[in-house]
Amino acid sequence: MSSDRPESSDRPESSDRPESSDRPESSDRPESSDRPGHRKRPDELRSHAWYGDPGLRAFGHRSRTRQMGIAAEEHLGKPVIGVVNTWSEINPCHIHLRQRAEEVKRGVWQAGGYPVELPAISLSEPFQKPSTMLYRNLLAMETEELLRSYPIDGAVLLGGCDKTTPALLMGAVSMDVPAIYVPAGPMLRGNWRGSVLGSGSDVWKYWAEKRAGTITDEDWAEIEEGIARSPGHCMTMGTASTMTSAAEALGMTLPGAASIPAADSAHSRMAAATGRQIVEMVWNDRRPSHILDRRAYLDAITAVLALGGSTNAAIHLVAMAGRSKVKLTLDDFDALSRKIPVLANIRPTGAYLMEDFYYAGGLRALLAQVRDHLHLDRLTVTGHTFGEVISGADVHDADVIRPWDKPVWAEGGLAVLRGNLAPGGAVIKHAAADPRFHRHTGPAVVFENYQDLQQRINDESLPITPDTVLILRGTGPKGGPGMPEYGMLPIPDRLLKQGVRDMLRISDARMSGTSYGACVLHVSPESHVGGPLALIRDGDLVTLDVAARRLDMDVSEEELERRRAAWTAPAEAYGRGYGALYLDHITQAEEGCDFDFLAREGTVAEPESR
Ligand code: FES
Repeated sequence: MSSDRPESSDRPESSDRPESSDRPESSDRPESSDRPGHRKRPDELRSHAWYGDPGLRAFGHRSRTRQMGIAAEEHLGKPVIGVVNTWSEINPCHIHLRQRAEEVKRGVWQAGGYPVELPAISLSEPFQKPSTMLYRNLLAMETEELLRSYPIDGAVLLGGCDKTTPALLMGAVSMDVPAIYVPAGPMLRGNWRGSVLGSGSDVWKYWAEKRAGTITDEDWAEIEEGIARSPGHCMTMGTASTMTSAAEALGMTLPGAASIPAADSAHSRMAAATGRQIVEMVWNDRRPSHILDRRAYLDAITAVLALGGSTNAAIHLVAMAGRSKVKLTLDDFDALSRKIPVLANIRPTGAYLMEDFYYAGGLRALLAQVRDHLHLDRLTVTGHTFGEVISGADVHDADVIRPWDKPVWAEGGLAVLRGNLAPGGAVIKHAAADPRFHRHTGPAVVFENYQDLQQRINDESLPITPDTVLILRGTGPKGGPGMPEYGMLPIPDRLLKQGVRDMLRISDARMSGTSYGACVLHVSPESHVGGPLALIRDGDLVTLDVAARRLDMDVSEEELERRRAAWTAPAEAYGRGYGALYLDHITQAEEGCDFDFLAREGTVAEPESR
């Protein structure tokens, strides 16, 4: 057990607890082979099959380990810890993970393990096209197969930029060796002439001001200099902060880990402590299947809602739960959203940034505010219960982490919509929308795809008024392809100049968690497969009613049938390669956009010739 915890932790050492407490009281998972109270012997380690045999193959594995300068006494009989690292020079959010991997390894050595670093594909949100979402499942597959094909007893997963968190955890869940997550941590606050700048949110905000003519080219250049000041992921409550916080709420990180800024020395200490923790987890065989039951996923949703987190969580958590064989649906999000207020005052829903959130007490302090709605007796990677992990957490700034009776928004920030425009479901982060659009009817102006949108949005002949409903199709899981974050459609320049800053926008795309506005997203089934979004036409009246959770177009079923009969499927973007594999197997948004062959039940054999 680690002796060095994240500084926000004030809990006792897990070794104080009986090992039988490692097991949750109930679980949706089948019983594991874990024996309560049993601490593994070295010859029970998975890696023993590679190193411990007297035969020829183990000779090769041992001699090749000697070749790397590792003596027998340094690794034989010790847990082999795979440090899955998504560092890359094209990923600014992970640029410090080269050093963090060394700190994790330091912790592993200290605790008597043998660390091996395993580089994995880096999903760099700013640079990877058409969308990192196209590659989330590729990283999940890579993670699972890295852990399976090598002599790995336990895994430390390093990531944080948006899709990295669900991808790494999905792979580790499917492999089900002991695993723990090191969130990359948010970057420091941005700065422009003394004003705070937040990733994404302030980019959209000042881009709109530049188009409206209220800031100059020089102002814009200064903002470019000051908005990204340190390593780390986006420091607004975007998808990165949402999903790393969800990972902590699931119980898959050390307590407090997700809130620590990447540049803080506490982040390095957390990395080393995580290295020590995974060795203890291997000896006690504490695996994802022991931790991730339905209660854990419901608590992760509760955390996301109290944070005012990204709508992308509604896709990723469903996919992650599917890997855990837990049934999680959009209705779970909606039901909790009606109960859980937004308490974290973080942009884009609120005013502050992740650095402020950390100083105010971080995620543990936020979770303590909603503890009556959490499952406190379930297990975490620490061997402690979730309740023990968050006990004693204090709020140090009640404007950043609000009390229950003074929320930023009275309802959780996500509503699930259904209707004849979205029979499979759609979502809206209504807390980040102008309230006048919570119930709104307006005529549609339809764009066929992103290119059409870019070419025509400023066409002055289009009948676009502040009440128009802007529709974008061709941007879903298959149509995008990869469901890019185009969901915050731009407002026409002429309306921006008139002071318009929000409009009702509807698409089958996703939206960056740092974005805001009355944007209905993830419309399902997507237009590319012939969903109703493919059938809507310019001038059709569309009604959004958030309170009723409805999204409808005023078009008769007979007329929709006529349009459906005349509809032809668009061409596929990929005829071969990974893209073709993706198109053949991707599921719709409400199913989590996993690959059907990764999500389904089935066994996978351990490598035979070890
Ligand atoms: Fe990596 Fe936002 S770009 S988290």
